[in-house]
Amino acid sequence: NKLDERLLRRIGELKERRNAVILAHNYQPDEIQDLADFSGDSLGLSVQASQTDADVIVFCGVLFMAETAAILSPKKTVLMPEPSAGCPMADMITAEQLRQLKAKHPDALVVCYVNSPAEVKAESDYCCTSANAVEVVRSLPAERQVLFVPDRHLGQFVQERTGRDLILWPGYCPTHQFIGEQEVRDLRETHPQAVVMAHPECSEPVKALADELLSTGQMLKFVRTSKAGQFIVATEIGILHALRNARPDAEFIAASARGVCPNMKKTTLDKVVASLENMQYEITVPSDIAARARRSLDRMVEILP
Ligand code: 13P
Ligand code: SF4
Repeated sequence: NKLDERLLRRIGELKERRNAVILAHNYQPDEIQDLADFSGDSLGLSVQASQTDADVIVFCGVLFMAETAAILSPKKTVLMPEPSAGCPMADMITAEQLRQLKAKHPDALVVCYVNSPAEVKAESDYCCTSANAVEVVRSLPAERQVLFVPDRHLGQFVQERTGRDLILWPGYCPTHQFIGEQEVRDLRETHPQAVVMAHPECSEPVKALADELLSTGQMLKFVRTSKAGQFIVATEIGILHALRNARPDAEFIAASARGVCPNMKKTTLDKVVASLENMQYEITVPSDIAARARRSLDRMVEILP
């Protein structure tokens, strides 16, 4: 509509004036994905944030992603259009809790999912995303114990794929937890030809029903080359927009209408305009924490799937 067109034009002008780049996660609202210079999964966004030569990064996602961009690009200004967009899973572990866990297992290596606060990354040896968690854990010496925080579902997936016993933390994503086993079972029955793709953050019974366990970026890659014409998608519903763009001929069915991340939906066109206009809201990480978190993030960006 006319208002959106006006806002989009304004965003274009301001982007040029600020030398800004807009990054958006695959779970963002459709119109935000469409206006972004790059949209992708957590790993892809981290790589983009570390490589861009823009002065300003407008991060359309949740807080841990913007913090990660600030750590990887310390000279750039990182803005979030809506700074209250957090990730409940990331908030399920604090640096103090991790320090206590490490004290109990002093010889263990710590791998933390990128969905974590910067201070937790600073206490970790390696960071990972759902796209490279298996590769990161495989790269560690077999004789070392590994603490994996905060997502126990991703941790369980990594245990299964690597055959290693990990010490897990009881964190989880509420949005993925909402996707029910029975819903997926029913859809499988009514759509026997469909390929079921699930995110590793899903519960174990849902993952057991899936044909493919993939990060959101991997889902996009998978459907581009798949011969299937119908897919059941067990993750946050924002990805359906990107999947439909990737394969306009195919049918994508959300495993559950409840798979919505309210924090991801806080970004609006208005807020992106205000963000560029007023240079708000700047996300910074204290330099001592950033320096320590940077080491675990650098290791993550090096180990690509
Ligand atoms: P990916 O896009 O990296 O698969 O991450 C999923 C997620 O929950 C991000 O919050
Ligand atoms: Fe966090 Fe889950 Fe939302 Fe991702 S989908 S940002 S893990 S709450």
